[in-house]
Amino acid sequence: MPSSALILVAAGKGERAGGDLPKQYRDIGGQPLIALTLQNLMKAMDFDVIRVVVSADDPYIDAVLAKLDLAHVTTQGGATRTDSVRAGLESLPKFGLDHVYIHDAARPFVNAGLLRPLQTALETHQAAAPSLPIADALKTHDGSAVDRDTLLRVQTPQAFRRADIDAAFAAHPDTNFADDIAVAKAAGLSIKFTAGQARNFKVTYPEDFAKAAQMMGTDMSYTAIGSGFDVHQFEDGGMMWLCGVPIDCGYTLKGHSDADAGLHALTDAILGAICFGDIGDHFPPSDPEWKGASSDKFLRFAMDEVAARGGVLQHVDVTLICEKPKIKPHREAMRARIADLCGLPLTRVSVKATTTEKLGFTGRGEGLAAQATATIKMMS
Ligand code: CTP
Ligand code: MG
Repeated sequence: MPSSALILVAAGKGERAGGDLPKQYRDIGGQPLIALTLQNLMKAMDFDVIRVVVSADDPYIDAVLAKLDLAHVTTQGGATRTDSVRAGLESLPKFGLDHVYIHDAARPFVNAGLLRPLQTALETHQAAAPSLPIADALKTHDGSAVDRDTLLRVQTPQAFRRADIDAAFAAHPDTNFADDIAVAKAAGLSIKFTAGQARNFKVTYPEDFAKAAQMMGTDMSYTAIGSGFDVHQFEDGGMMWLCGVPIDCGYTLKGHSDADAGLHALTDAILGAICFGDIGDHFPPSDPEWKGASSDKFLRFAMDEVAARGGVLQHVDVTLICEKPKIKPHREAMRARIADLCGLPLTRVSVKATTTEKLGFTGRGEGLAAQATATIKMMS
């Protein structure tokens, strides 16, 4: 049996995945993603040496490794994945290792079905990696067709004869590569592609956590309900904007932007659901850029932030609190405008109005208040 080393690269920042923690430490089915990856790797193959490559200031790895009874296996990575792999290779014992398996910490569903064919491939080749065909049609940015039959999607683990991958990295000390098969190719090593697996996907984007959790039999989705509230004073003249609709009533709402209290309350409700501060944080009234700005812009910003977190807006409800103007004649136009701005069907947009029975500032007709709720399905 050839002796083997595992290099697990986990020194990335996980920027595309968003979130408060680097993706390799985010929870999947009750444990950090990297713990699952390591458990699955150790179940699938008996490695003689394990190296986990982490960033210099990683405060999380020790707790993960302690739970798995792994000691003295970390080494410090670099600014790029290539640097991290290089550091992992350099940290291995000089002698006594035949094969090296290099794997992304972000691919938790690795299994023996991937590793065994790689081991077999190294009997005849210097390098091997799992790959998959491409199902979608491929185009360049100008629309020209690309022949997908000439292309492959390549995954990790990628396996190498130890002496050959060391020599390949040594021959290209300053180049950044997308993966380690690219280093092998640059050095002219013989490469065998084995069968990849769809389940061996790399957790990369926010929505991938929900997919991973689902595969673990746990649903990490939740429903977030945000609320928003806004008040603006009336002033004479001009046109009033309310819930994205112009109302020609001889007076307007006073404010720095277009003072659309309905859209402001709604924007804050959406920001509340994703715990992303409030409208004033992102569009400070002190900033001249937002003077007279259409509040559509604020709502669109909030919607983009929802999408960036993998959330889906499901329903909104806006209540306008005022003695005047009469809302009913404008209500359907307001619903339609909000539906349009939020990409929701009309059946999921509610606009209501009420008075305060002549009490308080709204009762005296000094201004208008708006409150809103937004219901968002968050995938993780
Ligand atoms: N990696 C690493 N060192 C780096 C960059 C990446 O060890 N300097 C690791 C990551 O931790 C990950 C694997 O390489 O396990 C694949 O990289 P990728 O999916 O790109 O992860 P990140 O670089 O962390 O994510 P992003 O590119 O979204 O920031
Ligand atoms: Mg990266």
